[in-house]
Amino acid sequence: MKTYRQGPETNRIKLRSMTADDAGAFFALNSHPDVMRYTGEQPLKSVEEARSAIERYPDFDTYGYGRWACVLKETQAVIGFCGLKYLEDLEAVDLGYRFLPEYWGQGLATEASHASVRFGFETLNLDRIIGLVLPDNTASIRVLEKVGMRLDGEITLDGQQALQYSVRRPS
Ligand SMILES: CC(C)(COP(=O)(O)OP(=O)(O)OC[C@H]1O[C@@H](n2cnc3c(N)ncnc32)[C@H](O)[C@@H]1OP(=O)(O)O)[C@@H](O)C(=O)NCCC(=O)NCCS
Repeated sequence: MKTYRQGPETNRIKLRSMTADDAGAFFALNSHPDVMRYTGEQPLKSVEEARSAIERYPDFDTYGYGRWACVLKETQAVIGFCGLKYLEDLEAVDLGYRFLPEYWGQGLATEASHASVRFGFETLNLDRIIGLVLPDNTASIRVLEKVGMRLDGEITLDGQQALQYSVRRPS
């Protein structure tokens, strides 16, 4: 199995797997109430917890791919994460992303998501990629639509009603 710790690059962003050095940025992201609002996850409590989550992250070794850190090329700052994750329960590959609020509204999530979806189809040879989102998360729904996803229907996710979107590999 090939492992893709280096992801695609876009005009403004480089995607690569997280390292322990990203713990501060990962904590800032995953403890921010505005970022966590629609994720259904508990915010992280410390940089230590963030470091441990990064070090225990199994996806690259298990599947060869996972969520990547998004590095803004201009400043080298880690501004969020984006990428593909295999969901065993659904037997499907899911597109996910989170960005620090000061970087919202500049098309960065759309840019990183486009690159991730293209990578999934062209490099990983996937047939289909899904996106799961809470119905009130308008910005995220827009990102899914902008990468070509369409609504499949509702799904219960950790006890919450969510929407499932998907896109198929272009023929
Ligand atoms: C969802 C998120 C990644 C979007 O990031 P972003 O970089 O601001 O997104 P983009 O700039 O690429 O914008 C994508 C589209 O969403 C729209 N949008 C952005 N914020 C919006 C908001 N608050 N309400 C409605 N639309 C919004 C943009 O206008 C754009 O659509 P348009 O081109 O038609 O105008 C960001 O808000 C975030 O990190 N949220 C918290 C984490 C999260 O919820 N992740 C997804 C879980 S499913």
